[in-house]
Amino acid sequence: MASQVLVAANRGPLSYALTDDGTLSARRGGGGLVSGLSAALARQPEALWICAALSEADREAVRRGVSEPGVRMLDIDPTMYDDAYNGIANSVLWFTHHHLYDVPREPVFDAAFRRRWESYTAYNLAFARALAQEAAPGAAVLVQDYHLALVPGQLRELRPDLRIAHFTHTPWASREFLDMLPEDVREQLVRGMLGADVVGFHTRAWADAFVAAAGPEEAGRVAVFPLGVDAEELRGLAYRPEVDEKLAALRAEVGDRKTIVRVDRTELSKNILRGLLAYRELLTAHPEWRDRVVHLASAYPSRQDLKVYRDYTAAVSELAAEINAEFGTEGWQPVLVSVQDDFTRSLAAYRMADVALVNPVRDGMNLVAKEIPVVSESGVSLVLSTGAGAHEALQADALTVNPYDVSATATALHEALSLPGEDREARTKRLSAAATTLPPSAWFEAQLSALTR
Ligand code: F6P
Repeated sequence: MASQVLVAANRGPLSYALTDDGTLSARRGGGGLVSGLSAALARQPEALWICAALSEADREAVRRGVSEPGVRMLDIDPTMYDDAYNGIANSVLWFTHHHLYDVPREPVFDAAFRRRWESYTAYNLAFARALAQEAAPGAAVLVQDYHLALVPGQLRELRPDLRIAHFTHTPWASREFLDMLPEDVREQLVRGMLGADVVGFHTRAWADAFVAAAGPEEAGRVAVFPLGVDAEELRGLAYRPEVDEKLAALRAEVGDRKTIVRVDRTELSKNILRGLLAYRELLTAHPEWRDRVVHLASAYPSRQDLKVYRDYTAAVSELAAEINAEFGTEGWQPVLVSVQDDFTRSLAAYRMADVALVNPVRDGMNLVAKEIPVVSESGVSLVLSTGAGAHEALQADALTVNPYDVSATATALHEALSLPGEDREARTKRLSAAATTLPPSAWFEAQLSALTR
């Protein structure tokens, strides 16, 4: 049966694993986009989510016809997929929108880039064709993120009757970085997205940057939908018995010391290294905090197919080990790094955080900044980078930092640790209220209703 509401995203709500005996087991997909969309779609039982098969096990599931209701996985040729996902989406578009290039060496737009760009175009077309096939007349289609920037334009050609929205979960590049792309590629990206009736971003700043590239005449269909947190659902998850157990174990490790908590994918844009350098500077400039604070850093692996990510992950572990060697004592380990994607542990850390450190160089939103105040047990001081999309809504009650200024971040950590309890609690209440104004279901419905206007 054709669908009235469709979502297209590279990553699906679940992924498969193949066991030794050849059976397939499904598990929930990771990341902010997936959790937000999954929560929103729980209220749209008729919706169809089109995603890519990400692994051999996913491809095997497609071949065997294994699927979950409401999900269609596309079996895209693995080489083409690798070129599109790793070669273009993660290595070019992600770097452009997050300003991550090491400019003396990067970017390089050569013949290999052109081949990958063709793969990216074909991978987008596979989504556009699947959507065209599955959509009922006049259906609403919500296309997600920089992986699928060309889909709205391609789909518009195939099915002019559809109502199409595109939403970008990353920042949008400043003019200077966008202009590094070859002109025709930049044009295809912007025109591709403008195939949509509504082009959405998390913040006014990213929306304005897009309008600067698209032209002021396009401003009318560019809109801001700042994704927030579902307080009830998150608190329900954070106060389960298994989280209580993790919390007790962490508490036993940390003792009565204060905690500085961060939770990220080991992602270059998250600025984990400068965060550790700031913590080191805190312990140097304010020796009174030695043995009185522990930095809990969850940095779970991401995009390990790319060497630059593997190197970054290794550098995070090395720097944490250096800090532990420099300051650690028999009874005190200054940094506890967890490299597992362990949401239960993260929730436990959220609950006990005295300080939350969220210092990305540039980030579409950063839901961690919104989640921690919502589940905090006794108030949290939020040290928040101006580069995070979340800064737009949370700045009044956060301690704002320039993500490149390690010394200022160290000072902010000191101030955050020193905030009087009452002030901290009052700020946490306001942060939590600001974080929950547009929970995933409302975020999704706001886009659907923008499409019907
Ligand atoms: O920030 C954009 C985003 O799609 C997030 O929503 C998500 O957490 C992340 O990128 C996922 O990246 P990947 O699917 O490459 O692991």
